[in-house]
Amino acid sequence: MGRLVVAPVDLTRPKLRILDSGTADGRWLLDLHASLPFTLGHQYIGIDSLSKLFSTNLPTQITLKEQRIDATWPIEWQGSFDYVHQRLVLPGSEYITHQETVTNLCQLVKPDGWIELIEQDHDTPNPGGMVKAEQLIRDIFTHAGCGYDYPHKLREYLKNAGMEDVNIEIFEVPIGVLIPDPELAAKSIWQVRSALEGFMPTAREILRKYNTLNNADQEHRN
Ligand SMILES: C[S@@+](CC[C@H](N)C(=O)[O-])C[C@H]1O[C@@H](n2cnc3c(N)ncnc32)[C@H](O)[C@@H]1O
Repeated sequence: MGRLVVAPVDLTRPKLRILDSGTADGRWLLDLHASLPFTLGHQYIGIDSLSKLFSTNLPTQITLKEQRIDATWPIEWQGSFDYVHQRLVLPGSEYITHQETVTNLCQLVKPDGWIELIEQDHDTPNPGGMVKAEQLIRDIFTHAGCGYDYPHKLREYLKNAGMEDVNIEIFEVPIGVLIPDPELAAKSIWQVRSALEGFMPTAREILRKYNTLNNADQEHRN
């Protein structure tokens, strides 16, 4: 996308509270922290359902906490963040609807704060070399019951949650040889490969269940 922050947050104001939801190892918070003067005194907070991903030896302004996006948020966090950021996490909401998840996230934002939700469209007209991979992801999300059209519903979710000044931006994100900088190109390939590896156990489990059902059906017919 070429930039860390899309929402028009004024990050030069001091002492902001910034939440990265589904932070993994805290990579976005680390990049943001490194891009801003330490003297601003911001608090960088990250949550993820998997605390085993958390980096250690983080700067003291960065705090990571185990928390699910589809669970109750700490009461003291309500209306406390100047900026809530969430990238590629919404399909991980298993126990409540996407609408409820977004509404709960919006309730963490201060009245004059911003929320930024980034999701990948797995049904684009130009998937390039990702045709098979995107089909696999669509199948998994369909099987999981959440479907794959949620990126197109973000505006509706935010509006329903009572947010004002809602804007949608669409970014074409090149991968691999389409990126002129070799370092960035390699990084993008690593990112896609590791994301797909993360999907493989679920894909295998679906296939196993499908084969078991088919075999049972075949035996029944015999
Ligand atoms: C595709 S990664 C994105 C990581 C990071 N946001 C980024 O853009 O680099 C999805 C992350 O969401 C986390 N996640 C998935 N389901 C979650 C849930 N229900 N609650 C909190 N985190 C979740 C995963 O553990 C993983 O770290």
